[in-house]
Amino acid sequence: MNSAFISRRLFVRGAAFSSLSLALALAGCKPAADTTTTNSTAPTGNTTSTTDTNAPTGETIAIGHFGSLSGGTATFGKSTDNGIRMAFEEINAKGGLLGKKLELFTEDDASRTEQVPGVVQKLINQNNVLCLMGEVASSRSLAAAPIAQADKVPMISPSSTNPKVTQVGDYIFRTCFIDPFQGTVMSKFARETLKAKKAAILTDVANDYSKGLTEFFTNDWKKGGGQIVATESYSEGDKDFQSQLTKIKGSNPDVIYIPGYYTEVGNIAVQARRLGLKQPMMGGDGWDSPKLFQIGGQAVQGCYFSNHYSSQSKDPKVVKFVTAYKAKYGEVPDALGAVAYDAAYIVADAIKRAGSEDRSKLRDALASTKNYAGVTGTISIDADRNAIKPAVVLEVEGNEAKYVATVNP
Ligand code: PHE
Repeated sequence: MNSAFISRRLFVRGAAFSSLSLALALAGCKPAADTTTTNSTAPTGNTTSTTDTNAPTGETIAIGHFGSLSGGTATFGKSTDNGIRMAFEEINAKGGLLGKKLELFTEDDASRTEQVPGVVQKLINQNNVLCLMGEVASSRSLAAAPIAQADKVPMISPSSTNPKVTQVGDYIFRTCFIDPFQGTVMSKFARETLKAKKAAILTDVANDYSKGLTEFFTNDWKKGGGQIVATESYSEGDKDFQSQLTKIKGSNPDVIYIPGYYTEVGNIAVQARRLGLKQPMMGGDGWDSPKLFQIGGQAVQGCYFSNHYSSQSKDPKVVKFVTAYKAKYGEVPDALGAVAYDAAYIVADAIKRAGSEDRSKLRDALASTKNYAGVTGTISIDADRNAIKPAVVLEVEGNEAKYVATVNP
């Protein structure tokens, strides 16, 4: 690094710091940064969020997480943050990376797509993060990805499964499977295991993930000779599903596929049972939350959903992870905690292989991730920056999701 570069960096960082201090003083608040290290350094931002891939030069390696720590999908963001934090603490305890500690800056988007651009820009411009981790919900990852791509900041979603997310550009990655696979998993399960022939679908049309799964499930279902007897819709945040469920009841399906998120799914299930619908309901990873059991109660018993891992697996890697997570957070990790933990280790591994805090080198290292043996399976990043991994099918039993089957890609 030459001295001209250093002095430019110092100037930029000083400028960023003073304008931020002023903004914070005016707002009368402290930085909301959440850190894994005890020494919370002042934000060291790049004022203009340029394409300077050598940008991060702080005392720690700053990583940004944007997620839903509050709102309708709060458990998604919290579990994800728990998983990343646990991985970073383990890595820091072993000496960190490139001679530095990892520092996690977390921003809450309140489960609202329209808040995503603001929090992502804050992480890039004020916290000068090396890369971004998030989101869970595909619609919110899709709101972030164009910003990350334009600024050439690698973005790694641990759990967004809609294909469009990584299609935004070559800086956008995910470490989970995608929905053309996930939709097929439940179609096959309904056909081969439940012996169903007629399916009804209830889609959240405000949600890219739900629309995608509807399409991919339908394709495979029809190909396998199944019939779709009802297609009904709702929007995230809705509370009353009576009219859709009444139509579904009239269509007399063998199964009801509800590829939504846990809050609405729980309410839908309760109202469906009240209307006398006895059929098994099925969904995808969006069902995964301890809240599903609280909201859905009796209504979701015996229902099935596809997911990224089973906490009941006897695989020693899973057992070790579940034990450590339970000791730290007092609860069994849902899939979000597990995929985020794996994603954090993949990021760390890529930083190590990049050998520097250069965002373009980190991008290349992420792209060449091969055979990382994680809690949720062996992860290789393919040419489209997705991971190819098995899925599991789980059945709700009491307050647990019981392991039923593993489906390989
Ligand atoms: N796959 C979901 C989406 O894309 C998010 C999700 C992942 C939810 C894992 C729960 C568990 O929107």
